[in-house]
Amino acid sequence: MQQLLAQDARHYSTFRLAATLAKVTVLSSLAELQHYQPQQLPLLLGEGSNSIFLSDWPGEILRYVAAGRQLEVSGDQLHLHVEAGHNWHQLVSWSVGQGWWGLENLALIPGSVGAAPVQNIGAYGAELADTCSYVDFFHWQSRQVQRLTAAECRFGYRDSIFKQQLAGKGVIVAVGFCLKRNGSPKLNYNGLDHLTAQASLLDVMNAVIAVRRKKLPDPAILPNCGSFFKNPVIPAALFQQLYQQYPAMPHYPQPQQQVKLAAAWLIEQVGLKGYQLGGVACYQQQPLVLVNQNNGTAAELLQLITLIQQAVFARFGVQLEPEVRLLRHHD
Ligand code: EPU
Repeated sequence: MQQLLAQDARHYSTFRLAATLAKVTVLSSLAELQHYQPQQLPLLLGEGSNSIFLSDWPGEILRYVAAGRQLEVSGDQLHLHVEAGHNWHQLVSWSVGQGWWGLENLALIPGSVGAAPVQNIGAYGAELADTCSYVDFFHWQSRQVQRLTAAECRFGYRDSIFKQQLAGKGVIVAVGFCLKRNGSPKLNYNGLDHLTAQASLLDVMNAVIAVRRKKLPDPAILPNCGSFFKNPVIPAALFQQLYQQYPAMPHYPQPQQQVKLAAAWLIEQVGLKGYQLGGVACYQQQPLVLVNQNNGTAAELLQLITLIQQAVFARFGVQLEPEVRLLRHHD
């Protein structure tokens, strides 16, 4: 166990707002977690690629960094057990390098394996739920590890039981995956349509990496947390009204009479693509991403969020909700 005091939050969030974190505890094995008895329940943090500190954080922060990997091959399937602290993209590129299908469309997503199920990460026609077979969850109350099947995780669009009923109740310690030797490329995303059904696993991963590099800013160069808002999912009846007025509106039918809209398009329509407010901005190449381009502050970010939400609501009657976890301590 490692305890770090008075940490600079810019090292713990890829949006890099200035703040101080009073105490960060780093645990590197399940045995350490089982012995750890915090006075108050800590805030859990992975690699900080989807969390933004809007204020100093006086409470304890926990990073669980155990990163082992175990595998079992049966027939043409690979059963993988990966501890939560493993880096996500390293897992993807390792599995692709070994010839296992399943994770290739999720290449280059920043963050850790343990964070992936929380919001059911997804990109380019795939999501974690497609290959996840279970999640191991350590409960603070019972101090036991429970294995939740994928169905029990209740994965949805950027959602799971870990953001709902189990939020704050424990720690994801490992994720199970089932990958396949004989797969076929998932090419339904329109940026991948130059590939053919004969594309290799490596071709698919490389194409995904190329699209991401073109559209999304690299957090190591331009601080950001990826998509800032979720794509709004609205009732089909409301969509029909909007569609009559805006026939060019991108839309994706969902189960249960719902339609998903492209938040990037809504933001572009209200003229805020590329908009700068102090040190923060709505990214020019992909307006769903907010960037901290010049030492922005929490106040500027909050103003920009409100401005975007109000402009989109005023024009379309649709409420944009943040996808990123915003952390603010209230005294
Ligand atoms: N669009 C515009 N203007 C733009 C960019 C996009 O109008 O400047 C419209 C286009 O119609 C485009 C649509 O928005 O077809 C969707 O854009 P894009 O394919 O770039 O994806 P997204 O819906 O904005 C989602 C995920 C991304 C993921 C991509 C690709 C969410 C919140 N975001 O973005 O995930 O990489 O799809 O699958 O669902 C992340 O979560 O951090 C993330 C980057």
